Amino acid sequence: MPALSRLRRAVLTGALAVLPAAAVVALPASPAQASSPLRVHAEAQGKFIGTALATSPLANETAYRNIAATEFNQITAENAMKWDATESSPNQFNFSGADQIMAFAEQNGQQVHGHTLVWHNQTPNWVQSLSATEMRSAMQNHISRVAGRYASNPVLKSWDVVNEVFEENGSLRNSFWYQRLGESYIADAFRYAKAADPDAKLCINDYNVEGINAKSTAMYNLVRTLRAQNVPVDCVGFQSHLAIQYGFPNIQENMQRFADLGVEVRVTEIDVRMQMPRSSAKDATQATYYSNVVKACLAVSRCSGVTIWGFTDKHSWVPDTFSGEGAALIYDENYAKKASYTAVHDALAAGDPGDPDDTEDPSRPGTPAASAITSSGATLTWTASTDNVRVTGYDVYRGTTKLASTTTNSATLTGLTPETAYTVHVVARDAAGNTSAASETTTFTTLEGPGTGTGCTAAYRTVNSWQGGFQGEVKITCAEPVTSWRTTLTFPSTVTISQNWSSVRSGSGGAHTFTNAAWNGTIGAGGSTTFGFIGSWNGSGTPPTPVIS
Ligand code: XIL
Repeated sequence: MPALSRLRRAVLTGALAVLPAAAVVALPASPAQASSPLRVHAEAQGKFIGTALATSPLANETAYRNIAATEFNQITAENAMKWDATESSPNQFNFSGADQIMAFAEQNGQQVHGHTLVWHNQTPNWVQSLSATEMRSAMQNHISRVAGRYASNPVLKSWDVVNEVFEENGSLRNSFWYQRLGESYIADAFRYAKAADPDAKLCINDYNVEGINAKSTAMYNLVRTLRAQNVPVDCVGFQSHLAIQYGFPNIQENMQRFADLGVEVRVTEIDVRMQMPRSSAKDATQATYYSNVVKACLAVSRCSGVTIWGFTDKHSWVPDTFSGEGAALIYDENYAKKASYTAVHDALAAGDPGDPDDTEDPSRPGTPAASAITSSGATLTWTASTDNVRVTGYDVYRGTTKLASTTTNSATLTGLTPETAYTVHVVARDAAGNTSAASETTTFTTLEGPGTGTGCTAAYRTVNSWQGGFQGEVKITCAEPVTSWRTTLTFPSTVTISQNWSSVRSGSGGAHTFTNAAWNGTIGAGGSTTFGFIGSWNGSGTPPTPVIS
C-alpha cells in the first residue's frame, strides 16, 4: 500500500522535525538527514551506535571528546572497567577511570555497556594464583563491587559478564578460570552479576563468533543450555574484530539464530583492519564491511546496536596487536571522516522513519497458527515477513479491529471473550510506514470460562506446601449473580490431585475441572467463594502453579 504509506510518511517527517531539539548535543534543526550525526539516525531506528573510549584522550583531546559526544549514544570503556584497572590488589578498588567514563556518558545522554567482569586477560596475577575456593569468592566479590557500584545508575545498561570463554574449535577455553573452577564459573559469574545488578542486561561476549562456525555454535549451545537452567544470560555480544583480507562473515543469519533463543544480540567491538598501507580500494572494501554489519543489526529486531572499538585511527589497539595492520576505524588519525564513516551513516539513515525513498512494502506474513488457547487468550505465531530495509513489527487484526502489535513474529492475545470464534490476520510494517498485504486468516475458538458464561474470575494461591505435597486454594469472584460456576486448572503432568473440598472435580492428567458443590453455586453480584485441594508432586521447593482457564 505505498500510496497510503506515503501519506503517513509525510506526517512522520513533520513530527521528526522537532526531535533533535530533545537530544543533548547541538544538532541541525532539520529532520534526520544526510548531515545528521550517527546517533540521530540510530535513535530514530531504536538502536544504539557506540564507541569504546580510552581515558587518556578523553581527558586530553578536545576533538576526541567532541566527536565522542556528538556522534555516539553508547559508550564502552576500552580498558577502564577491566579487572586490572578496578582491582589491581585484593579487595583494593579503584574506580577513577570507570567513573570518568560514566560521567562523560551521563553528561552526553549516552548509555554505558560495562566491560568486562570475568576474563582471562588483563586480570592481575594475584587472582590467577588463588586456590579454587579463594578464586570463586574473589570473583564473587569483584562482580559484586564493580557491577554493584553502578547498579542504581540508569546510564549503565548492560555488562559483559564473561568474555572470550571459548577456544576456536568450540571447546571451553583452557583459562585459569576453567582450570581452577571448571565450567561452573560461567553460570556462577552470571548469578553473581544478577545479584549485584538485577536490572542490567547480562552478556556473554566473544570474537570470531560473527559467522556460523564451530565456535559460534558452541556459544549458541551454551547460551541455550544456561537459559534452560535459568542462568540469567540476557544477551550475546559479537565483538566483530574483522579484517578485510579474511572475508565477511554471515553475521545476520548467525545473530538471528541467537535472537530466536530470546536473547538480545549486539555488536560490541567492531573494527575492520587492513594490511597497511591504506588504499582507496581497501577503504571501499572496509566501508562495505561496516555497512553490512550495521544493516545486519537493523534487520534483526533483537539487535540493540553496534559499538565500534574506538573511532579514530589515532587511538586504536590494532597496530599494537596485529603486526603490519591498521586503519581499522571510521575516522583517520587526524579526525577526518573516512568512507567507512559515510557507510555507517548511510546504513543507519536508510529506513529511518524520515527516509522518503523507501516505498517498498514488506512481504506478506505467513498464516498465523494459534496455540495455548484459553478462555481469555491465545498465542499466534507466523512466518516472518522480509523487507528491503527491515520489518519493524506486525499488527494482528480481527476484521478491522486491531488486537495486538508486536515486534516479533508472534503475539500473545489477552482479554478475549470465552467461547467465541476469532478469525484473525496479520499485517507487517517497516520503518518507513509501508505495510504488507494481509496474511491469510486463521480461526480459533476460545474455551469456556469460569462461571459458565458470566463475568467470574478465578484466582489461585498455594496455602501451604511440604516435601512432595501442597494445599491449593481458588477464589471465585463474580461481577454478576450466578447459580453455578466452573473453572479448569492445568498443572504439569507431575502433579496429582488427591482430594478436594467445596467443589466437585473431574478430569485427570494435567487438567482438572472444578464445579461448585451443591451448597456454594450461588454467588451474588460482587461476591465470592473459595474451594481447596491437596496436590502431590515429585519435587521439592516451590510447588507448581496451575494455568487457570
Ligand atoms: C583491548 C584494548 O583495546 C587494548 O587497549 C588493550 O591493551 C587490550 O584489550 N577483546 C576485548 C577487548 O574484549 O577488551 C580488547 O581490548 C580487544 C579484544
